[in-house]
Amino acid sequence: MSFSRRKFISLVGGGVVLAATASAAGFLTTRRPDQALVPWSTAGAYDEPRMRALSYAILAPNPHNRQPWVAELLGEDRLVIYRDKTRNLPESDPFDRQLTIGMGCFLELLRMAAAEDGHALDTTLFPEGEGGPVAELRFVAGGVADPLFAHVFDRHTNRRAYEDRAVDADALAKLKGFATIKNDPSDVRALRVLTREAMAIEMTTHHVYEESVDLMRFGKSEIEANPDGISLGGPFLESLMLAGLLNREDQSDQNSESFKSGFDMMQDALEATPAYAVVTSKGNARVDQIAAGRDWIRLHLAATGLGLAMQPVSQALQEYPEMGKLYTQNHEMLASPGETVQMLGRLGYGPAISPSPRWPLETRLAHA
Ligand SMILES: Cc1cc2nc3c(=O)[nH]c(=O)nc-3n(C[C@H](O)[C@H](O)[C@H](O)COP(=O)(O)O)c2cc1C
Repeated sequence: MSFSRRKFISLVGGGVVLAATASAAGFLTTRRPDQALVPWSTAGAYDEPRMRALSYAILAPNPHNRQPWVAELLGEDRLVIYRDKTRNLPESDPFDRQLTIGMGCFLELLRMAAAEDGHALDTTLFPEGEGGPVAELRFVAGGVADPLFAHVFDRHTNRRAYEDRAVDADALAKLKGFATIKNDPSDVRALRVLTREAMAIEMTTHHVYEESVDLMRFGKSEIEANPDGISLGGPFLESLMLAGLLNREDQSDQNSESFKSGFDMMQDALEATPAYAVVTSKGNARVDQIAAGRDWIRLHLAATGLGLAMQPVSQALQEYPEMGKLYTQNHEMLASPGETVQMLGRLGYGPAISPSPRWPLETRLAHA
């Protein structure tokens, strides 16, 4: 290992802020991408019921934070939800399966938010078939408030290493009502190997990894200009950027120290996982994918309420040829013949983390 790589890892490991001159330290404290986080504080602050529900729905988890949802308000009580196909992920999600799951997460949050206000949603999925809108909805009186909604602001995707302790038995019992939970030591060992191997394939498969690199936002200005994708921000990562240790060019170069260190960090975090959650479906039609998204966000909100962290680890579920072998292996481990594993996620106790950016709701509206 070269000196600079060791230095990088010790910086990362110790959380030492590198450029510790007074001016750099002052600069770093201003690096929170506040503008990109505004939707987390304006959720709920709308008078119009559909806008209020939408302001929560845009906080839904979704692949690569593409936020492909577009909402059209029609008349007094109707809403049409589209998926913006310019935000597709053709390399990592060639059949738009994961993006559709993200739309399911969005629709479930929309439903919960509307229910808080005493509205039920009369919902038709794919009213014009697969090529058209994802859903047409009408807000009607009704709706039963859902206790899971209380965790909407605390739900985040936690990519850090989780504590080396088992998930509480009570929490496991509750979560088993939402998804299949794998916490048997031999299953956990096998899934750690599988998820690490799948991540290694993804990061070394050029056409797939480049899709991610293109979506990386380096530092506050890039994040605020495009509050989506993979945001690399906050004082620590910005200190690495200041020191020239983290940039786009190095991230696409598998031989760079920066790439290798990022790779090692991700592998270590994947290893530090005490349990997994799995959502499968019998069919794999668009409506099944929407249902899987609804299940996933309910699970994630429930886990959040129990003080648990989660991160989807989707690499082995992805349908590009280089992943074929692990895709099959993953299905053999986690699904019955004919079923599809729609989501696989890490589960455990993690450190507190920041919310991820969102585009303001106003930018996600279609005008008839
Ligand atoms: C279908 C789907 C697949 C996802 N796969 C991954 C993944 O493989 N790795 C990961 O770190 N996050 C994954 N995510 C999480 C998103 O990156 C995350 O939801 C998004 O960046 C927004 O961040 P938030 O969940 O903290 O609000 C996935 C989310 C969805 C809905």
